[in-house]
Amino acid sequence: MNPQIKNNEFKNLLVTGGCGFIGSNFIRYLFSRSDFEGRIINVDKLTYAGNPENLADIAEAHPSRYIFRQADICDFSSMEEIFSQYAVDAVCHFAAESHVDRSIRDPGSFIFTNIVGTFNLLEIAKSVMPSLVRFHHVSTDEVYGSLGPQGLFREDTPYRPNSPYSASKASSDHLVRAYFKTFGLPVTLSNCSNNYGPYQFPEKLIPLVVLNALEGKPLPVYGDGKNVRDWLYVEDHCDAIWTILRKGRTGETYNVGGNAEIENIVIVQQICDLLDEMVPPKGGAPRRTLITFVSDRPGHDRRYAIDFSKLRDELGWTPTESFTSGLRKTLSWYIHQKAWIEHVKSGAYRTWICEQYGP
Ligand code: NAD
Ligand code: TYD
Repeated sequence: MNPQIKNNEFKNLLVTGGCGFIGSNFIRYLFSRSDFEGRIINVDKLTYAGNPENLADIAEAHPSRYIFRQADICDFSSMEEIFSQYAVDAVCHFAAESHVDRSIRDPGSFIFTNIVGTFNLLEIAKSVMPSLVRFHHVSTDEVYGSLGPQGLFREDTPYRPNSPYSASKASSDHLVRAYFKTFGLPVTLSNCSNNYGPYQFPEKLIPLVVLNALEGKPLPVYGDGKNVRDWLYVEDHCDAIWTILRKGRTGETYNVGGNAEIENIVIVQQICDLLDEMVPPKGGAPRRTLITFVSDRPGHDRRYAIDFSKLRDELGWTPTESFTSGLRKTLSWYIHQKAWIEHVKSGAYRTWICEQYGP
């Protein structure tokens, strides 16, 4: 449908939300590749989830190819100015409010950032369209709702989002596709399963359990612990996005998954066992004794599982990391990142941000 994009066409790639978990891994991934020669403009509001420390080494190593701008994607004029100042020719859109539990407590920011923020970017992208070669929207499998014991999410699975988070992401997906159909904006979309790996904010299941387990705190498991997620190591997700950015057909959605369906309770047990081996517990009691079943999340989706055969068959992508190897790498990263963890937990990195970028 569209010719493959040559690597050198991404001269000025706008990455939104690049100080978050997946965005910062994506920027790190791109700078490790020889087939990306462009410049990255990372636009991030620096919410509680955004941490420029994640990319401090990249900023130092690539001063002419990495630009950071603290800005809110909901602020139309700032975004317009950034597109124009840096002659943005491609967008990879990660910025979002991303945590389901927060969307249950306080959905407003999800509506603004995920829907209005995406709309702003689309409008500006449309206005610079002849020079914009690609707008990639990073989304989630949660838009498809919940599966029973059988079946997989395919790209043609109807949308049935169940949380304010997934409903806001579904809405943004529809807007992105509409801008392709109505205005011919060269969009691609990816809907990915649960990610894990370095730099994930410790509110999500895996880093939360790792940090609590290292401190001997209770490990909260919602409901009966038998909810299933399909886990993907974050670097594999970055590789999928880069593949779709370059080779994906415009107007198309690609599902991304890890072939790693696991019940929550099994993950928590695996983390306990691996940590016991890697960092023997001080008191001697195995960490599984910390597992605590707590009230279920309202509207908790039972099972997610992804059919990624379209991405595999059309564009040749498959995940490379097994859950066992990826989890070991992830635990090892958290064990050795004492300063990062201290900053995130103590709020010191907020102070650090204020020193660098103002209050
Ligand atoms: P994250 O919460 O770690 O990071 C989000 C980033 O966006 C933060 O740096 C934050 O400061 C920034 N941001 C928030 N609001 C903003 C705004 N108004 N303007 C500019 N920046 C803003 O999220 P993540 O886990 O890295 O997820 C990134 C994207 O991937 C999201 O769109 C999410 O829906 C999607 N996704 C995540 C997962 C997952 O398992 N984490 C899976 C599939 C898809
Ligand atoms: P989470 O990491 O919040 O991702 P998502 O809700 O986007 O899938 O949660 C992953 C699974 O773990 C989900 O089924 C909810 C569950 N969970 C717990 O059991 N305990 C926790 O403390 C958290 C944060 C999540």
